[in-house]
Amino acid sequence: MSSFKISSFEEYQQVYKKSVDDPEGFWADIAGTFRWQQKWDKVLDWNFTEPNVKWFTGGKLNITENCLDRHLEKNGNTVAYIWEPNNPNDQTIKYTYRELYEKVCRFANVLKKHGARKGDRVCIYMPMIPELAIAVLACARIGAIHSVVFGGFSAHSIADRIQDAQASLVITADGGVRGNKEIPLKSVMDDALELCPTVKKVIVYTKIKTPAYMQRGRDYWWDEELATVGADCPAEPMDSEDTLFVLYTSGSTGKPKGVLHTCGGYMVFAQYTFENVFQYSQPEIFFCTADIGWITGHSYIVYGPLLTGATSVMFEGIPTWPDPGRFWDIVQKHRVTTLYTAPTAIRSLMASGLKHVEKKDLSSLTKLGSVGEPINEEAWHWFHDHIGKGNCPIVDTWWQTETGGIMISPIAGITPTKPGYATLPLPGIQPCLIDEKGQEIEGNGVSGNLCIKFPWPGMIRTTYGDHERCRKTYFSTYKNMYFTGDGCLRDDDGYYRITGRVDDVINVSGHRIGTAEVENAINMHTGVVESAVVGYPHDIKGQGIYAYVITEKTPSDANLMKQDILMTVSRIIGPIAKPDKIQFVSGLPKTRSGKIMRRILRKVAEGDLANVGDTSTLLDPAIVDEIKAGVIA
Ligand code: PRX
Repeated sequence: MSSFKISSFEEYQQVYKKSVDDPEGFWADIAGTFRWQQKWDKVLDWNFTEPNVKWFTGGKLNITENCLDRHLEKNGNTVAYIWEPNNPNDQTIKYTYRELYEKVCRFANVLKKHGARKGDRVCIYMPMIPELAIAVLACARIGAIHSVVFGGFSAHSIADRIQDAQASLVITADGGVRGNKEIPLKSVMDDALELCPTVKKVIVYTKIKTPAYMQRGRDYWWDEELATVGADCPAEPMDSEDTLFVLYTSGSTGKPKGVLHTCGGYMVFAQYTFENVFQYSQPEIFFCTADIGWITGHSYIVYGPLLTGATSVMFEGIPTWPDPGRFWDIVQKHRVTTLYTAPTAIRSLMASGLKHVEKKDLSSLTKLGSVGEPINEEAWHWFHDHIGKGNCPIVDTWWQTETGGIMISPIAGITPTKPGYATLPLPGIQPCLIDEKGQEIEGNGVSGNLCIKFPWPGMIRTTYGDHERCRKTYFSTYKNMYFTGDGCLRDDDGYYRITGRVDDVINVSGHRIGTAEVENAINMHTGVVESAVVGYPHDIKGQGIYAYVITEKTPSDANLMKQDILMTVSRIIGPIAKPDKIQFVSGLPKTRSGKIMRRILRKVAEGDLANVGDTSTLLDPAIVDEIKAGVIA
């Protein structure tokens, strides 16, 4: 179908050059392979000062016609999803492209029946079941903007996101199962909805048959509603720059922001990156282990694979249940060819020993992928040797919620790899390293802050409802650059290695968490005066969360108070943001102007007590000794 798949390293180099010399021609060729209801007038309109970025303006399309309709004629019977349930003894479900198309159209009619229209925001809070993908696509079908909220977030976090997006409709399930835990999604949602007067309708899928409160006139059962609508649902014509979705992610400030992606550019970028990086062709079986609640799931479980006409495994459960061999069982059972997962998962499975790998037949695997955080060399080698058996290329893909798709990554089997390196930018992507003074650092064997100097179709357009925040966060640090927030090294071969965030964002098990967000949550706990949160290296999670907490009075039971604080953070954000370590302190190292010296707190949390550096500018240097003495190893 497409004509943009690179097939050799020489071709990569030529295409890369072309993409820099003539970016518009490069992307127009790729965009030309999609189904447009009306062709675009102009490929690109941009400046990074406002910022204002528009791709394929004047073009009309619907992404679901490209994900579904265009495959029907020749590939309607191809399997789109192989759904693997949480419990390995339950039934696998397969949906062909035709079946998926029919389900999406019918459910889209349910959304319409309940008043959802183009441009309306729909919040989706569901477990990893096919209906989650169906809900996402049904929104796209009618032009409603989906905002998927990860099933592990608390009622408070959901309410924040619904309020920010002013969503009018919610799609959820009675509950979900992950491992041996049941999560009462509807009940969590009910708590959130107390704070969300904009929500008029809630559609509830029955998954675990747990009792659910169903409010008359507001809440409706998914299955019952399907029976009341027709099968046909024409795809809503969308402008290239109409919004496709909003996805909330953490930043340096306390409030998560809604990263906004648009229809045309995101579509082109999702398929381009999927097909190239993974070198996908039928009948390969692609398995991305992410949750659709994160960008990885949006781009590489839903849109990228479906646009490509791929067959993917969607997995409901967790890697360690019923035992840490679960991923390998799935690979064996479904003859997975490409496994795309996170370093955290690799490290945790590595720690549980080879006995869970050895008897599994992993011979179907030909390609491996990693995403979400830097992969340490040990994990890279374990993945390469024990899962790939030494002959599967690993693509270490660097990208972000804001970039929409993969930016810097090997092309599987084509780009020579190096452990720990995301290697080279994809054609169409122009990264650069910037020094403290804002100057570009040329040449190799250098490090700096990673920026992108030219737009690409999948990039963030704005932060929902607050364009100034988008400008400030990404486009104001360096002139005419998109600033990623990551530090990066470019080695002597010109290969990129991402070294981690340089802002107040930490990456815990591949999940992005703002330190300010965690601090705000801790500070809501009664008896807490102030807190400071930093990341520290963690063997499995990549980074752990270390919290320094000042209390009004010495807690009578320090352990209980720590438990209470964990409960508070779970309630306010979700269990993923719970600190790993809490140290009670009587003060924080502050400068005379009141700024917390996080550098010192980081050093202490890392256990590097000898190198906290100069403390003479602190208001109260003695506090550092107290903090060092109480460090939690
Ligand atoms: O710090 C980088 C890290 O994850 C951040 C983006 O997080 P999020 O928006 O949640 O998206 C994660 C999935 C794309 C980046 O700023 N990161 C992502 N991939 C890598 C990575 N760090 C190192 N190597 C990677 N391959």
